[in-house]
Amino acid sequence: MTILVLGGTGKTGRRVADRLTALDLPVRIGSRPLFDWQDRATWPKALDGVTAVYLSYYPDLAFPGAYDDIKAFTELAVSGGVRRLVLLSGRGEPEAQASERTVQESGAEWTVVRCSWFMQNFSESFLLEPVLQGVIALPAADVPEPFVDVDDIADVAAAALSQDGHVGKLYELTGPRLLTFAQVASELSEATGRPISFVRVTPEEYVAGASAQGMPREEAEGLAALFTGILDGRNAHVVDGVRQALGRPARDFAEYAAANAAVWKKS
Ligand SMILES: NC(=O)c1ccc[n+]([C@@H]2O[C@H](COP(=O)([O-])OP(=O)(O)OC[C@H]3O[C@@H](n4cnc5c(N)ncnc54)[C@H](OP(=O)(O)O)[C@@H]3O)[C@@H](O)[C@H]2O)c1
Repeated sequence: MTILVLGGTGKTGRRVADRLTALDLPVRIGSRPLFDWQDRATWPKALDGVTAVYLSYYPDLAFPGAYDDIKAFTELAVSGGVRRLVLLSGRGEPEAQASERTVQESGAEWTVVRCSWFMQNFSESFLLEPVLQGVIALPAADVPEPFVDVDDIADVAAAALSQDGHVGKLYELTGPRLLTFAQVASELSEATGRPISFVRVTPEEYVAGASAQGMPREEAEGLAALFTGILDGRNAHVVDGVRQALGRPARDFAEYAAANAAVWKKS
């Protein structure tokens, strides 16, 4: 039995792979060049001999085209002998929820891990550079989000892939506390000891700024759409999916910020 970990070098996948490897389970990392969402010819070889998949999409389950890819991949996987699928999904995103249904109706044992926004976006992703620069400029309203620690996500996903008690479960994972981006900036200032501020910009300003910094325009537009569309209050509540899945509380942003302070220290 081989477990294919898609996005296995990314924020969640890398951690899922580490946990499964520590359990002596055979893991195959599904990232490029072995597996490419943009090149379906790579899919059969990546799936060869695989019985379970950590299904994380790139760039985002809410972006156009994701649903078609998830549907095609799921059908291929199940017809080829995959018996368990653990899907990484996002809260309050209709496109992501359509992909969830595809996995739930696939005939495989399934677990859906439906997450709020990741804390690690500030330390391992598109918000790292803004934090280092001291200004987080986003088209985000004054709406709080219960940011979740990806180590919690990985703990849940690895449990779902390696144990039997999580089959047929939809876990909604959030952190334990609601924070606006302005409050995040303030907590990061405290953790790093340097001023980090939040500035609200228009979607057009965000796309122009992110593109100028090298982000592909399509990705910047997709992110702007997420900030303006989904950050409208629909996800502004904490839930206890981490406790349901693992029997322990979710990690708090302050713990994450303290643990990552070195990442944000200017060299
Ligand atoms: N960020 C959030 O706050 C948030 C919240 C809820 C849900 N999500 C969901 O999380 C998912 C992303 O997961 P993540 O943050 O763990 O990943 P990530 O850190 O963005 O990592 C990307 C991974 O995908 C691989 N990758 C890049 N391009 C690829 C391609 N064309 N084909 C196959 N693999 C490719 C990368 O490796 P290579 O570059 O080596 O190929 C890497 O392993 C998205 O579907 C998103 O909807 C995110």
